[in-house]
Amino acid sequence: GSNAMWGGRFSAGPDAIMEAINASIGFDQRLSDQDIAGSRAHAAMLAAQGIITQADADAIRDGLDRVKAEIDAGEFVFSAALEDIHMNVESRLRDLIGAAAGRLHTARSRNDQVATDFRLWVRDQCDAAAEGLEALQRALLAQAEAGADWVMPGFTHLQTAQPVTWGHHMMAYVEMFARDAGRFRDARARMNECPLGAAALAGTGFPIDRAATAAALGFDKPMDNSLDAVSDRDFALEFLSAAAICAVHLSRLSEELVIWSSAQFRFVTLSDRFSTGSSIMPQKKNPDAAELIRAKIGRITGALVALLTVMKGLPLAYSKDMQEDKEQVFDAADTLMLALAAMTGMISDLTANRAALEAAASAGFSTATDLADWLVREAGLPFREAHHVTGALVARAEARGVDLPDLSLDEMQAVHGAITSAVFEVLGVHNSVASRTSHGGTAPAQVRARIAAWRERLT
Ligand code: ARG
Repeated sequence: GSNAMWGGRFSAGPDAIMEAINASIGFDQRLSDQDIAGSRAHAAMLAAQGIITQADADAIRDGLDRVKAEIDAGEFVFSAALEDIHMNVESRLRDLIGAAAGRLHTARSRNDQVATDFRLWVRDQCDAAAEGLEALQRALLAQAEAGADWVMPGFTHLQTAQPVTWGHHMMAYVEMFARDAGRFRDARARMNECPLGAAALAGTGFPIDRAATAAALGFDKPMDNSLDAVSDRDFALEFLSAAAICAVHLSRLSEELVIWSSAQFRFVTLSDRFSTGSSIMPQKKNPDAAELIRAKIGRITGALVALLTVMKGLPLAYSKDMQEDKEQVFDAADTLMLALAAMTGMISDLTANRAALEAAASAGFSTATDLADWLVREAGLPFREAHHVTGALVARAEARGVDLPDLSLDEMQAVHGAITSAVFEVLGVHNSVASRTSHGGTAPAQVRARIAAWRERLT
């Protein structure tokens, strides 16, 4: 038979293939809480405005409570013939309370309903992502505190560049994840306007109170244009953009963990709890969680590109294309939350190998810049000349297979006569990092100041 919700003009029901391509209930049942909250707010407003009776509103409210209880208990039978969560809930409400259920959809459309439900859902995800990021920041902060002055090589091009501290490297990610959390909070603030009451696209002639439903659902205000309210999904795109940028940060940290945990680096040891073994090679302890987080960026970026592509070129107002918004966002949100939790676990559990970090920091001529700076400061050389002299000293050390501090004063003076024994002080990695006291620099004093500031913000 034809559809009970919209079948008035139809004499035949949909083809099975039509139902298969059309139904969203398989995934949008995740919006059930939001859908019921929206209906509750709408019914209460309709009664307060005298559009339906208080008795009907009470029956609707109690019926919605029962629907919610059935869904929570896993007893609700979702039906693809009823297409989506909105019609599944309303249909069950009709079973439970009879005719009053039919008054709920007064002055409302599934178009403003779905826009409202989805905003509520994405809004919660923004909060969850920001919270997950703060947990990760706290784990990074604990690592930074433990090794605020441990030296390690800083890299450019993955070639040894200058010594930095472990604490400084950890705190770099604390800053990145703070911006990510800020992006989720910004997106949340911008999306917190209520589409409900836009109806199908043009608003309604019923004397509804949009400010009341907006307030009941925790929105700052109703959206000001009914066409915009039902037809944009920029809030979901912003969430996905923030998620994609965050996933990029997570994947960069993952890549570092993969490199650092290798036998060649041994900078960190991952815990057994966040590692896996090999079924053939008994010695293996693999950083699978880091690799999977590194890879999951693909799903999240994919979701962003997919939804951008869905929305591109859609004429106003609602088109069914927009039903494709949900699975992308659900998958991206689930993926992001799992990746954040796994990264938080890995970081909390890992052991940084202080000795290996320090040994690596001292190798690879990492204090060559300190030597050049010393020549500028103490011998008055222009930086370009100091750079050249230092390069010659590095070449000499490399030819001999030793490091810069292993060259004798005579050898150094043969390259430039102004060098004195005082130069050896700047060739040590601890002096090197301690000297970098500029704001945001790697000196332990700077790093500790940043740790203290973040400790205050995160507790
Ligand atoms: N399931 C639909 C969606 O997710 C709900 C809105 C349907 N509106 C309509 N006019 N068919 O977008």
